[in-house]
Amino acid sequence: MCGIIGYIGEKEAVPILVEGLKRMEYRGYDSAGLAVIEKEGLICEKTVGKITDLEVLLGKRRFSSTMGIAHTRWATHGEPSDFNAHPHIDCKGEIAVVHNGIIENYMALRELLERKGHQFRTETDTEVLAHLIEEYYQGDLTEATRMALTQVEGTYGIAVLCLHNPGQIVAARKGSPLVIGKGQGEHIVASDVAALIRYTNQVVYLEDGELAVITKDDFTISTTEKVKVPPKFQEISWSLDMIEKSGFPHFMLKEIFEQPTTLRNAVRGRLNEEEGTARLNGLRLYYDDLPHIKRIIFTACGTSWHAALAGEYMIEDLAHIPVEVEYASEFRYRGPLIDEGTVVFVISQSGETADTLAAMREAKRKGATTLGICNVVGSTIARETDAGVYIHAGPEIGVASTKAFTSQLMVLALIALMLGRMRDLSAEQGREMVEAINRIPDQVEAILSREKEIKKIASTFAQSNNFLYLGRSYNFPVALEGALKLKEISYVHAEGYPAAEMKHGPIALIDENMPVVVIAIRDSLYDKVLNNIEEVKARKGMVIAIATEGDRRIKGMVDHIFYVPKTLEFLTPLLTVIPLQLLAYHIAVLRGCHVDQPRNLAKSVTVE
Ligand code: G6P
Repeated sequence: MCGIIGYIGEKEAVPILVEGLKRMEYRGYDSAGLAVIEKEGLICEKTVGKITDLEVLLGKRRFSSTMGIAHTRWATHGEPSDFNAHPHIDCKGEIAVVHNGIIENYMALRELLERKGHQFRTETDTEVLAHLIEEYYQGDLTEATRMALTQVEGTYGIAVLCLHNPGQIVAARKGSPLVIGKGQGEHIVASDVAALIRYTNQVVYLEDGELAVITKDDFTISTTEKVKVPPKFQEISWSLDMIEKSGFPHFMLKEIFEQPTTLRNAVRGRLNEEEGTARLNGLRLYYDDLPHIKRIIFTACGTSWHAALAGEYMIEDLAHIPVEVEYASEFRYRGPLIDEGTVVFVISQSGETADTLAAMREAKRKGATTLGICNVVGSTIARETDAGVYIHAGPEIGVASTKAFTSQLMVLALIALMLGRMRDLSAEQGREMVEAINRIPDQVEAILSREKEIKKIASTFAQSNNFLYLGRSYNFPVALEGALKLKEISYVHAEGYPAAEMKHGPIALIDENMPVVVIAIRDSLYDKVLNNIEEVKARKGMVIAIATEGDRRIKGMVDHIFYVPKTLEFLTPLLTVIPLQLLAYHIAVLRGCHVDQPRNLAKSVTVE
């Protein structure tokens, strides 16, 4: 949410800043801007709209500055507009600030600064930072920023520059991620590694309460209380081609098609065929404790929450451990009960979602062991949980999560299998599961090769304005996820329901104009789902069924059908969700929607 980049080095800064913003555009895309120091002074250019609009604004103008800061925005305070776009500057136009996060006491600070004569030009919370730094500035930008931050309540990732300190960028973090990349005679600070992997793979993540002074050749980190912090370098394994579209029209489609590979990556080296179990190195320090877990709480947001729900079914089924699934935003505030023997799993693709982060900290504060399931290596949740498992899905750029979801499901299946085998699941059962897991990537590949069938269904329903998604047991979370995908990228109203729950309300919505997507695979509840289909058909609803290969019985009952290969019940979500991702994608494309940057959404929600 909001992308920040700062560059200082020997090259022209503007093209690097604009390219960095493009790499982070999925974090926010309602306005963009940059500030550089030129001979004539501090130049700040900003506009409502996308990065391409900023490029139009910059036109053919030549900039020579070798340092600058830039921002792509997801509005919180103040509507998207040229004025409200970042950077924000002080009264004299000498200090520029870009900010991700929320300054909670900005009203009080603004009143105070206005009384002192500061002139405000925008409706944003961020502008107070520029004026506050100006207020404290006496020639030392670092000190002025540090002093300003002592007055601020809320969250921030910021980058600041000042006309009178042309050799440095000051950056600071509290609650919103920032990473510094070390290049040859240059440094880049950004809210996301995607912005800097073109230049370097050597990075240092700032921790909360840290402030960095970055120059061309060096950088120093200290706490806001002035205690020096030695930099901890990490190597990023992501490569440039991983964050490019590679011939696909959208990142989302590329990521859908990457799933056979990302699923192979999620299981690589983690299965023991002979023992019929999984081994997750990230959890090895807890191996002795895991068989004695009394209760598991999963906490997450959005798509990750849907994965958690499927994880609940998997773990209760395979390992017989009671599981609860909590929205992170609820968990953090409702005084959750955590007793000895409770383990809290925190699931997050980005590892930076503000609510999930807060839920994790609340669980820690209450004494729980916290285990992470994350995609982004080095992310805050990955660093702050006691231990965890990476899903290895690679960078996910499309705002609607796809490959991260299936990799989360896969890791959850591995955890369920491992816990099951540590308890009462037999080796024989385990071996059957390992075999089935190993087949999943090829089965996903086979589904993807039939994309055309889904495209055809999508064209039939592209103009429908309401959809219902139904599923039971393991495929109830898939129904929720299918509906979410459609809502997110095509702005079509869609609801996911447990199939049987339909008759307690949603059935009132069904008529001949209502497409109902039913996941009706050959599992233990197959007959029950067929009954639910009959109920829909009796009310003239249009049924699109996701069924098991070879199922002839269902054919005559539904209007459209898409077959998925057979697998074990606990693995079915990994297959049934693929056609639903494709359905949402193609409907969105047919409706002319901006698939990778859907309106109002952001990839990584780093504000509460
Ligand atoms: C945002 C994204 C969703 C995502 C959710 C949780 O709302 O738009 O796609 O599922 O955040 O993100 P996380 O990174 O914690 O999995």
